[in-house]
Amino acid sequence: MKNRGKFIVFEGIDGSGKSTQMKLLAKKLEEKGIKTRLTLEPTYGLVGGTLHDILSGKIKADPKVTAALFVADRLDHLTNAEDGVLKSLEEGETVICDRYYFSSYAYQSTEVSSEWVVEANRLCAETLRPDVTLFVDISPKTAMERILANRDTIEIYETEEKLTKVRDAYFAAFEKMKDCENVKIINGERTVEEIAEDIGKYSLENIFQI
Ligand code: ADP
Ligand code: TYD
Repeated sequence: MKNRGKFIVFEGIDGSGKSTQMKLLAKKLEEKGIKTRLTLEPTYGLVGGTLHDILSGKIKADPKVTAALFVADRLDHLTNAEDGVLKSLEEGETVICDRYYFSSYAYQSTEVSSEWVVEANRLCAETLRPDVTLFVDISPKTAMERILANRDTIEIYETEEKLTKVRDAYFAAFEKMKDCENVKIINGERTVEEIAEDIGKYSLENIFQI
């Protein structure tokens, strides 16, 4: 039987540089012979498609419904018989995921009771905890500058005021979960290369012990 792959999650407020950094980490791991898959939440599956329409403002939903849809999308992402994360891990692939339940703890907790959000995600946490959650930290001001400079469309959480609340909610969740979660805070206000060096070194030494 193959060794189970590692599950590495990137978190951060919108525009923090997650997708840039996860690709660079995957490249570094592949160079070391570690088979790696990149994935993201919300997915582009059935539930994820609805979430993308809610995030863009195309359809409106009560925040409680949005929170529940994120849980449903996450469970499908984990357990899907064709391309679920659990299947990839069992096959020995390392999975790097853009966002997981800490995104719900942070974003949905600004609108729905945080206890409820954590409880609704309990099945996900019990099924699969990340080997590490890498939180790429930037200020909401920098986030908005990057989003406005690089995108034509703005999503529902993308204002400086909302991202400030989300960032605070991330740190509150990290503090609350410090005994059961491995979270590494990465200073995201450096050059792409400096951040990648930091993440690569941390991951190889601490997650893969090489
Ligand atoms: P996310 O996936 O977290 O939304 P991205 O990786 O898409 O973030 O980055 C958001 C924008 O910021 C992109 O235009 C990207 O090129 C730019 N960017 C990423 N990392 C940095 C960095 N360290 N410094 C400056 N700009 C960056
Ligand atoms: P994403 O496409 O990663 O946005 P960005 O690249 O700008 O960081 O995520 C889309 C949005 O979905 C983002 O605003 C955060 C939100 N989101 C939640 O509110 N809850 C969740 O559980 C997840 C996974 C994402």
